[in-house]
Amino acid sequence: MNLQGKTVVITGASRGIGAATAHEFARAGANVALLARNADAIGDLAAEIGERAIAIPCDVSRYWEVEKAIEATVSEFGGLDILIGNAGALEPISHLSKADPEAWGHIIDINLKGVFYGMRAAMPVMQAAGGGTIITISSGAAHSALEGWSHYCASKAGAAMLTMCADKEGREQGLRVMGLSPGTVATQMQREIKASGVNPVAQLDWSDHIPPDWPAKTLLWMCSPEADDFIGQEISLRSDDIRKRVGLV
Ligand SMILES: NC(=O)c1ccc[n+]([C@@H]2O[C@H](COP(=O)([O-])OP(=O)(O)OC[C@H]3O[C@@H](n4cnc5c(N)ncnc54)[C@H](OP(=O)(O)O)[C@@H]3O)[C@@H](O)[C@H]2O)c1
Repeated sequence: MNLQGKTVVITGASRGIGAATAHEFARAGANVALLARNADAIGDLAAEIGERAIAIPCDVSRYWEVEKAIEATVSEFGGLDILIGNAGALEPISHLSKADPEAWGHIIDINLKGVFYGMRAAMPVMQAAGGGTIITISSGAAHSALEGWSHYCASKAGAAMLTMCADKEGREQGLRVMGLSPGTVATQMQREIKASGVNPVAQLDWSDHIPPDWPAKTLLWMCSPEADDFIGQEISLRSDDIRKRVGLV
């Protein structure tokens, strides 16, 4: 796929799925804007990718930072074609009855409000340009309750609904809005899950997880017309059919 001249914003690009996605889109020729809180990590990654990458330190739980990051991207590259809403957090894992209310709410601020902030800032730019693609990283936890993860499950369920809402409002103006549920991926998040020992996901072996470049390749494929059947929906990377269509197996 050739994304020469196209611009993508990736939130949570400092490691894991986001960093793998940055490499994948850069290889396809896109301009990549890397957003995360860890300025050193995204700075190093941008330097590794080269002149078509910029690092924009950004906490997605703060709307003004997201808005400024989208503005900075448009001013650097002249437009915005793709938004990958990938930033997400899970800690602290805790039973609902014992959860710290502030920490619980902060996960909503990142995983749900952060996704809304990205859409809110990017949609007017894309609509004015006649179209664009917005993909949010979802999770099996959006659709199934898991012990100790009430904040995460509630935030991912909300983010999945935001995908459907943004599709409803944006499709006629050329927006392609989708979700990607990657299954379990070998990243820092799975290390935290393992260390918690809570719920069946923590019992999985490291070898059960897919590598981060699988969701990264799938995200790239989702930007092509081949994925148009899935506009407004969520794609599950647990599906053998999807893995085949992306060329992973
Ligand atoms: N790994 C899995 O098995 C799995 C399964 C299903 C869904 N997911 C989802 O996939 C996405 C990526 O996760 P991952 O597995 O790659 O985990 P990860 O390695 O822990 O990466 C999470 C990324 O999100 C960023 N982030 C966290 N809070 C942020 C904030 N407030 N503002 C900006 N960036 C923030 C982190 O960067 P900074 O700390 O530098 O800000 C980091 O780059 C998440 O949405 C996660 O829920 C993962």
